[in-house]
Amino acid sequence: MSGKNIYNGPQDWNNPESPGDDDYFDTLLATRLSRRSLLQAGIGLSVVGFLGGCKAIDEVVSTDGPLFGFTEIPISKADTVVVPPEYTWQVVNAWGDPIMQGAPDFKSDASQTAAEQAMQSGQFHDGMHYFPLPQGARSSEHGLIGINYEYTDDNLLSPDGMATWNAEKVQKSKNAHGLGVYEVRFDGKNWRTVKDSRYGRRITADTPFVIQGPAAGHPWMRTAADPAGRTVKGTFQNCANGYTPWGTYLSCEENFTAYFVNDSGKIPRLQDRYGIPPTKDSWGFRWHEFDERFDAVKHPNESNRFGWVVEFDPYDPASVPVKHTAMGRMAHEGAMLSEAPDGRVAYYMGDDDYRSRFEHIYKFVSSKPYVKGGGYAANRSVLDEGTLYAAKFHADGSGEWIELTQGKNGLTAANGFNSQAEVVIDARSAGDVAGATYMDRPEWLAVHPRTKEVYVTLSNNTSRGKGRPLHQKDPLGAEPANPRAPNLMGHIVRWREAGGDPTALKFDWDVFLQAGDSGHKDPIKRGNVKGGVVFAQPDGIYVDQRGVVWIQTDSSAQNMASPDWAGIGNNQMLAADPRTGEVRRFLTGPFGCEVTAVQFTPNMRTMFVNIQHPGEAPLPHPGRNDPQKPKAISSWPEGDKGGRPRSATIAIRRKDGGIVGT
Ligand code: FEO
Ligand code: CA
Ligand code: CA
Repeated sequence: MSGKNIYNGPQDWNNPESPGDDDYFDTLLATRLSRRSLLQAGIGLSVVGFLGGCKAIDEVVSTDGPLFGFTEIPISKADTVVVPPEYTWQVVNAWGDPIMQGAPDFKSDASQTAAEQAMQSGQFHDGMHYFPLPQGARSSEHGLIGINYEYTDDNLLSPDGMATWNAEKVQKSKNAHGLGVYEVRFDGKNWRTVKDSRYGRRITADTPFVIQGPAAGHPWMRTAADPAGRTVKGTFQNCANGYTPWGTYLSCEENFTAYFVNDSGKIPRLQDRYGIPPTKDSWGFRWHEFDERFDAVKHPNESNRFGWVVEFDPYDPASVPVKHTAMGRMAHEGAMLSEAPDGRVAYYMGDDDYRSRFEHIYKFVSSKPYVKGGGYAANRSVLDEGTLYAAKFHADGSGEWIELTQGKNGLTAANGFNSQAEVVIDARSAGDVAGATYMDRPEWLAVHPRTKEVYVTLSNNTSRGKGRPLHQKDPLGAEPANPRAPNLMGHIVRWREAGGDPTALKFDWDVFLQAGDSGHKDPIKRGNVKGGVVFAQPDGIYVDQRGVVWIQTDSSAQNMASPDWAGIGNNQMLAADPRTGEVRRFLTGPFGCEVTAVQFTPNMRTMFVNIQHPGEAPLPHPGRNDPQKPKAISSWPEGDKGGRPRSATIAIRRKDGGIVGT
């Protein structure tokens, strides 16, 4: 079966029954030809003084030829999306598009009310997942997109932005945050959002959630509005995402702390460990001025109710969303599924704290196998019982998962952990005590669908090597899994669990690549990408059914305005072949955007990608625009016709209708 041409056939790559699919991966697994030496290019190592003798991990090598064939595009400094010439892109859904019955059209001066915004797409599209319609089908022409709207630029959200501030504006900001479901159809040529969909849904910063798992009801979860500690209003700062094999959507709460303020002058330990700031250091959302629960002095436990993985059923607009506390509390980037042979589910999770920068990578393994074919009804508690672990990357290329269970690994009452509820609410401190490795801002994760190899982006950490970081006892310099100090450009680490089993307690790892500008005058900023392909600060990552590793970048507008980005340009998306290390640029985004989330239809003929926050301003954080000049930086996607830049989901297809990536 070797040498079979898989690239032009009609196979359905998501379908395990597809003969082409199995042939392809059998070929890969049968031809493990080489071992790749870890940290092979070694760039930056001499700079930071580290030379590790790390164990290599097996690399799957195929004799099947190239994994991708598209024409590489150059870097871009243009206010548009660029894809290879044999591809097309179109906007499927943008901020403010109506997604449910009764929703009004977007107004280009952003004068829609808070109530109208709650029926439209939220402002900043981020993580997403494609769910075929009808449920259980494998349609590549009709489906639902479950999506995160991570945050907002409130200066673009209404005609005069934040020049005046009132309860209606806070409500509109909250309603432009959160989650959504919108229905999409392909008409043979274009994808469209169904405006009056019965599935259309918005979950905002005020939508009721149920709290499940070990922290439910714990005193640290109780507030004046919820003395039982079992229900919470809303979700926000939902970054990356996940899905379950029973057909639900997972979303992950990342930089939730920036909405709370504590001006007491004495921030309690738990709030401080998670980064609740005084007003002067917050992101300036000003929600606390009209909603007292964001005042962390008056309501010290409210922030404990954020930083979770949440779940809801996208097929049921009435389903009540849930916060799953067993999976731990952190600045969650995403929750990436890997199914164990026995039906238990493992989720890999990164903790990207924008302030402390040094946090851990986690894994949750369910206690029970899920009920196959049982849907959500049979699997509502699978994510509430299980074991949480944090990763330790040893210098020799081995690694281990340290169990974060009360009573084990130092998580004792003497060390401040009186129950599993306290372990999961204070998961970061649990990781600290248990000895987990401090990583360079772990972002999205991806699992290779057949090898189960896991990839994690470490977007950057300019604090590494600069003395003692927040919350740590000792200075943290370069070390094998985070080999550059400072790390401006970011890298990607991958690992393979012992025996290929996602529930294993040991793994082997290596650094897949270090990003950078290969032409940079400063060696530590060059990276080691094969062929010198230029990109920085990897964030989104996804491995498709053919094994292509898609990498998306998220450099801040402030970074992109610096001389270090002169040769890098706008944020972008690249394809990597994990067998050869080849990297090829596939897409570049408009000014000020980040490129985020990758989804394919089952037939792999359409790829969905999100263009988030086009027009982000360089300063001050978080990059708000001037409401009087909303198009000063970007007018994507509508250009002269539009009133302001809008985040959007785009669909990318080959002009000949072929498989995306080939
Ligand atoms: Fe939402 Fe860490 O990026
Ligand atoms: Ca991101
Ligand atoms: Ca980001």
